[in-house]
Amino acid sequence: MFEANDINVKFPVTTEEHKYLADTIKNTHATLREETQKYGPEIAWNRHISRKDVLQKYAFSMQKLATTYWMESDLITKSSTYSRIEWIKFQCKEYFLNGGRQKYDTREQDIKLKIDTNIVETEGATNCNTGEYKENQPSESFDNDFPKLGQKILLLDVGSCYNPFQGLDMFEVTAIDLNGIPDRVLCCDFLNVQIGKEKLFSNDKQEILQLPENCFHVVVFSLFLEYLPCPEQRYICCKKAYELLQAGGILFIISPDSKHVGANAKIMKSWKYVLSKLGFMRIKYEKLRHIHCIIFRKCRFKDVAARWANLQKLSQNDLYSHDTSIYIPQDFRNECNKIEEQDKKEYDNNEVMSMFNELPFE
Ligand SMILES: C[S@@+](CC[C@H](N)C(=O)[O-])C[C@H]1O[C@@H](n2cnc3c(N)ncnc32)[C@H](O)[C@@H]1O
Repeated sequence: MFEANDINVKFPVTTEEHKYLADTIKNTHATLREETQKYGPEIAWNRHISRKDVLQKYAFSMQKLATTYWMESDLITKSSTYSRIEWIKFQCKEYFLNGGRQKYDTREQDIKLKIDTNIVETEGATNCNTGEYKENQPSESFDNDFPKLGQKILLLDVGSCYNPFQGLDMFEVTAIDLNGIPDRVLCCDFLNVQIGKEKLFSNDKQEILQLPENCFHVVVFSLFLEYLPCPEQRYICCKKAYELLQAGGILFIISPDSKHVGANAKIMKSWKYVLSKLGFMRIKYEKLRHIHCIIFRKCRFKDVAARWANLQKLSQNDLYSHDTSIYIPQDFRNECNKIEEQDKKEYDNNEVMSMFNELPFE
C-alpha cells in the first residue's frame, strides 16, 4: 500500500516531467506563431520545418504526453470515450462495416434527385417551349463494395507523430508527419506535398514526396489543424484531404477545446460552411469533454455538399464569409504579449489533470 509520503515523493517528479513536456510543446507553438506574425506564413513555415531538432523533440514530447499523461487523465476521469483514437475506430466500424456509408449514399442520392428535379422544374417553367430534357438521375452509380471485400480501410493519418493507429487490424495506415517518431511514421510536409497518380518516396524510403489522389477511405486530422498558424494553411490542408479521398470517403477532424459545446459554436459552423463549399458533408459532430470530434464525408456530387452552405444567410462579419479560411479562436488574439502571457504562463499543478492545455486552439 502507498504511504502518504510516497505520493508526496512521486508527485513532484511526475509534475516536473509534465512541465518539461508541456513547455516544449507550448514554446514550439509560440515561436511558430510569433514568427508568422513577424515574417509572414511562408517564411515562418520554412524556418520552422528546417529546425529538425526542434521537430524531433516535439514529437518525443507529444508521444510521451499522449501515451502517458493524457491516458492517465482518461483513466482518472473514467471516460474512455475521451480517447480520440477509440472514437475514430468506433466511427469507422459504424461507417464502413455497419451500414453507415450506404445510409449516406442513399441520403445523397435523394438530395441530388431533389436538386435536379428542382432545376428541371424551374427551367421548364421559365423555358417551357425548348423541349429540352434534363437528366435528373444521379449520373454516377454507387459502388456497394467499398472498401472491397477483405480489403483493409486505407487510412491516411496526417500529423501522426507516433502513429497511434499502428497495429489496428482493420486499417492499412499511411502515417505522415513533419518529423515523427522514426520507423513508425514517414516524413512529409502535408502542406506542400504533391498530389498525383501514385505514392512516390525519397530514395531512402523515409519520406513521401507524392500522395495518390482519390485513393484513401479515411483521412485523419487529429489535433493537427490548430498546429498550423494561419487560416489559409488550414484550408489548403482540408482541400488536399478532399483530393486524396475516394468519393464517399471520410475526413476526421479532432480538435482540442475544453469549453462547453456552445462556446465555439460559431467556429464549428464556419468549418461546416467552408468544407461544405469544398464538397464535404458534415455527417457527425460530437463535443466530448476536451475535444470536438467531427466527420466530413466527401460527397459524390459537389452540389449536394454545397446545398447546405448555399441555404445559409450570411451577414458581412460572419466568419464563414471567407470561404478559403479555417479559423480557430486563437486567430483572434494576435498581440504577441497576450500569446506569451498565455503560453508561457506559470505551470499549474492541476495541469497534470487536464488535457490538451499544451496545444493551441483557445
Ligand atoms: C499535436 S500533434 C498531434 C499528434 C497526433 N495526431 C495525436 O492525435 O496525438 C500535431 C502533429 O502534426 C504535425 N504536423 C504539423 N504540420 C504538419 C504538416 N504540414 N505535415 C505533416 N505533419 C504536420 C506535427 O509535427 C505534430 O506532430
